[in-house]
Amino acid sequence: MASDDSSDDEYWGSYTRTPQENFSIPSLGQARSEPWPGGRESEAAQLVGKEFFGGCSLSTTCSQDATEMETDATVSVDSQTFKLHNLLGFGSFGSVWMASCTASGRIIALKEVQSSSNEGMEAAMLEAKRLRALRELIQDDRACAALPYLVCAGTVLTSTGYRTLLAMEHIPGAPLQQALEAGQLCAHKLHPMAQAFRVAATMLGQISAAMCHVSSRFFHRDVNSHNILVQVMTGQLSFGLIDFGLAVDSEIWRAGGWRMAGAAGDGRYWTISSWLLFSRGTDALSADQDLQSEYANFIDLHSAGLSVLQTLAVLSKDGPLVPTCKEEEAAFLTMEHLGEVWKQYWCHASACWQQVLDAFNSDARNEIKVKLAEEMVHDTFAAYFVRLRVALEQALASFRCLPDTSGGSRVLGGPKLACGVLEALLIMISTGRPWRGQAGWKEVGQLLSEEKTGIASDASV
Ligand SMILES: Nc1ncnc2c1ncn2[C@@H]1O[C@H](COP(=O)(O)OP(=O)(O)O)[C@@H](O)[C@H]1O
Ligand SMILES: [Mg+2]
Repeated sequence: MASDDSSDDEYWGSYTRTPQENFSIPSLGQARSEPWPGGRESEAAQLVGKEFFGGCSLSTTCSQDATEMETDATVSVDSQTFKLHNLLGFGSFGSVWMASCTASGRIIALKEVQSSSNEGMEAAMLEAKRLRALRELIQDDRACAALPYLVCAGTVLTSTGYRTLLAMEHIPGAPLQQALEAGQLCAHKLHPMAQAFRVAATMLGQISAAMCHVSSRFFHRDVNSHNILVQVMTGQLSFGLIDFGLAVDSEIWRAGGWRMAGAAGDGRYWTISSWLLFSRGTDALSADQDLQSEYANFIDLHSAGLSVLQTLAVLSKDGPLVPTCKEEEAAFLTMEHLGEVWKQYWCHASACWQQVLDAFNSDARNEIKVKLAEEMVHDTFAAYFVRLRVALEQALASFRCLPDTSGGSRVLGGPKLACGVLEALLIMISTGRPWRGQAGWKEVGQLLSEEKTGIASDASV
């Protein structure tokens, strides 16, 4: 049975650029400030008071008409002024601009969030608090993917509602999805498959280094190829992870706080448990110990794993794969198969997610949940994840057969790097069953360490 209570559905940030005005999904702030319904989850209720979604207070509210966001406009945020340069992208509730501090000249990214309600404004300020907390969490780890630490933030009350501005570190590069589509990550000197593994390994190394820190405090909940940025500069790849608008306190989440919020983020990167929660509600997820544990612990690991696999699949099909030995031929065949299974998964996930977005945009959220529950949507996703894992295992077995001499395969080099990437993906992509023991971000990072793979995490590609 689908849950008939839609109040936990949250805003989904990354799929569509259109602000979803014709339906209203309660914000994080709302979920936090509302009283918990009549003792439904006493454990979760106790957690509400413990800063589940945010940190300490951070707000400058004043009443004035907001300056238009446009090139060369000057805006004030919390007593600092910034000059806007160019539009970096659209957030679902406003735009993100590259700007410079008029006093110091420092380049930053300025995110605007417009909201007509107090709750929307609170949610935006909570994002600012999370970005500030990240700075306290991570001190100068150069192996890490870049993170959008907070510079300052403030809210202005205008005649039409609230405008919150978040000034944060500017992360260079383009969204991964865009970079893949534009062919920015192809290297013409290397065999496409060797390049695909080098990009995937670098991404895994930097993202896992960042997530080792981040996960001690937050679940991001919206890791995907729109929120991972990548820059290629003189052959070096630098990744960044942005958009902490849906992040939650990880300790509280694990201890049962997950019951307080609905499935969030981009459904194409969801776990089986997210689909179960979405289609059938909290009680259905609580009834399945394994899936509950997946949801409480591994959502970011899984969605990052799918983002890396997407990168690997897109880049490795990027040219003719002409083998130079028997073992190499077997490895190419298994990778081709993996690419095929990925494509099928992606078509299925995209079609499913599009149905959800269409239903929400036409005010049919309960209907789509009932439909997906009847279709056992979580089981269909489970079947795809099983197939992806089988294909990963087969690829891993074939790469293990490649000679491990210096040079190894003529086009791919030694197999260590590919094996490290494939093993890491096997830790990350979940079928909802407890096969992975204690493995997490640390183990992923270890598999991609310089001594294991022979390349530094920031090696040129
Ligand atoms: N710190 C940043 N540095 C550089 N670009 C950014 C930064 N934050 C956001 N952007 C750009 O703005 C776009 C939208 O920002 P995001 O925070 O993901 O908004 P939303 O929450 O609506 O998804 C991103 O896809 C990216 O292109
Ligand atoms: Mg985003």
